[in-house]
Amino acid sequence: MSAAIQAPRGTLDVLGEDAARREAVEAHARRILSAAGYHRIETPAFESTELFSRTVGETSDIVQKEMYTFTDAGGRSLTLRPEGTAPTCRAYLEHGMHKLPQPVKLWYVSTFFRAEAPQKGRYRQFWQVGAECIGSGQPEVDAELIVVLAELLQAVGIRDTELHLSSLGTPETRAEYREELIAFLRAHADEVSDEVRARFEQNPLRAFDAKDSATIQTMQHAPKLIERLTGEDAEHFASVQGLLDEVGLAYTVDPTLVRGLDYYTRTVFEFKSQALGAQSTVGAGGRYDGLIAQIGGPDTPGCGWASGVERMLLSSGEIPVAAPVVDLYVAVAGDRAVPRAFRLACDARRAGLGVQLELSRRALRRQLTQADRLGARYVAIVGDSDPAALREMASGEQAELELAGVIPTILRGSRLT
Ligand code: HAM
Repeated sequence: MSAAIQAPRGTLDVLGEDAARREAVEAHARRILSAAGYHRIETPAFESTELFSRTVGETSDIVQKEMYTFTDAGGRSLTLRPEGTAPTCRAYLEHGMHKLPQPVKLWYVSTFFRAEAPQKGRYRQFWQVGAECIGSGQPEVDAELIVVLAELLQAVGIRDTELHLSSLGTPETRAEYREELIAFLRAHADEVSDEVRARFEQNPLRAFDAKDSATIQTMQHAPKLIERLTGEDAEHFASVQGLLDEVGLAYTVDPTLVRGLDYYTRTVFEFKSQALGAQSTVGAGGRYDGLIAQIGGPDTPGCGWASGVERMLLSSGEIPVAAPVVDLYVAVAGDRAVPRAFRLACDARRAGLGVQLELSRRALRRQLTQADRLGARYVAIVGDSDPAALREMASGEQAELELAGVIPTILRGSRLT
């Protein structure tokens, strides 16, 4: 026998119970986001590489080392989507959604791909639930999105989250601040880690993300962008905070909050969960007022978030999962009964019942055990001729009847004897 083929590192198979818990997350997301006026969108699994290099940023970790990029037979550079914001904005533009009443609210639950070092809560293929609100720059958009994400996290049973909030201002403020921070880092170059020293001329903000204690200590004294916000940016940030206060959603203003993607402007936020360990961010997002212009569209503001499904599952307690309803288990009494049993199962499904057909040709006694295990309400025991037997599992009552009478009897829910 040759060696068994295994799934690539950092990928997950979704099985049984886990599939049901994911469905529960998706159902909560659909309910909460639809109620807030979001419409479902699905974009392709791969896009032009340029879409991500222009928006997520040439100097970001994602573009520099985490993208699955390949050249297709036509010589085009394509990339498996590492995130959903740039594709959603591309679709908004490509389908003329800027001509609809604004803002346009879109949500997705999709797979994403990043070539990261796998560990608990960090995978190479993972799922995100995401929401994007495109076409309004008002602070109530930011606040509404944050509240909706808080509601989703709560609905899936994540209780101990902390909301970190900051503002990155406009690109101009950021450019000036960037120079100031580079000057600070040059002056303190011997106090920070080698990794930060190697990269701060390119991307000084990432120094706030460092995990080593020397850099963390140095960065506590660094100038903070939040202290440099211009009038309108500061006003926007104050309004977002005011709206969160209005509904009593607690947050921490965190001037060291930097996001790993370059398209953010103004508001940025992260929900962190203690349950997650090193990969503590469960959901995150922010405003991206320049993104649509970066991909060739008109100046259009936008804001959104994405929350990792695996991280939501890791940090949630029990998500109540409803077991699938089995109204009828069709048991097969002998090989020659298979065609009649098969027809009954198909007809009963067409009539709207939840039906499981015996597919392993077990002995009748074991078929009844299996029906019981599945929580079936009724079992029909079908032989190669009438009558069939119909048993109500809860009461143990059993009646003999024609095969044609099985479905009407169950639908009427009438007593069997
Ligand atoms: P992000 O912070 O890169 O933002 O990812 C959002 C969430 O996706 C993370 O908080 C985490 O839960 C999950 N996630 C990211 N990478 C991985 C991974 N390798 N394994 C498992 N889960 C992961 C974005 O992607 C932005 N597009 C969010 C956004 C939407 N901003 C505005 N709109």
